[in-house]
Amino acid sequence: MPRHVAVIMDGNGRWAKKRFLPRVAGHVKGVELVREMVRTCLEQGIQYLTLFAFSSENWRRPQEEVTLLMQLFVKALEQEVEKLDRNGVRLRVIGDLSRFELRLQELINKAQEQTAGNTRLDLTIAANYGGRWDIMQAVNRMVTAHPDKRDGWQESDLEPYLSMNFAPEPDLFIRTGGEERISNFLLWQLAYTELYFTSTLWPDFDSAEFGKAIASFQQRERRFGRTSEQLVKPHA
Ligand code: IPE
Ligand code: IPE
Ligand code: MG
Repeated sequence: MPRHVAVIMDGNGRWAKKRFLPRVAGHVKGVELVREMVRTCLEQGIQYLTLFAFSSENWRRPQEEVTLLMQLFVKALEQEVEKLDRNGVRLRVIGDLSRFELRLQELINKAQEQTAGNTRLDLTIAANYGGRWDIMQAVNRMVTAHPDKRDGWQESDLEPYLSMNFAPEPDLFIRTGGEERISNFLLWQLAYTELYFTSTLWPDFDSAEFGKAIASFQQRERRFGRTSEQLVKPHA
């Protein structure tokens, strides 16, 4: 089983379009599938689930869609946090939250505090998140924390400042919706992640589809630079 699954939930708009519905209907349906995926992770004992909900580039969408997405985010926080809490889910939101309206920021803080003691599943929502933003905010904080250090920085110096510092790197990355790109998601953390792309649209990505992604992951040989033979006989 993967310990950490990271997902780009793409294809909501096309799902709605196929049904002659407004794009937002796809986003509403998409929230349902998030619920189902959380349930599956709890059942299967997957410890970390990280979902890309809104990229720093998604502000470029029509104002109306952005507003509706924000309303949906607020509504989801208002309606789901109790249940997440009861199920032992710890919720975090990563990204540049300063651009969200105050009410949303407050709801996020409240949800994070309320669920901070939970350990069954670490659910992370990336919102106004960008992988390059993450690396740069980490660099800035790292340098500020060590005013006297000029050079010789190591990867391990940066890692404590990255948004996902609490989690192991993703084992499995899933992107639904047919596009085969990272779209500025977790750039640093995906270095050795197994990538899974499917043309299934996010609102159709049910637990059976998730099962296919996990089965594909279980077929992979994760060599981390070593040879196949070394993996059979460890440390050969
Ligand atoms: C993903 O679905 C959800 C968000 C980016 C918020 P899209 O809205 O990108 O759906 P498509 O790609 O247009 O079908
Ligand atoms: C990526 O989806 C971000 C999210 C799913 C939140 P997009 O649909 O915005 O990605 P691009 O712009 O087509 O790559
Ligand atoms: Mg898309």
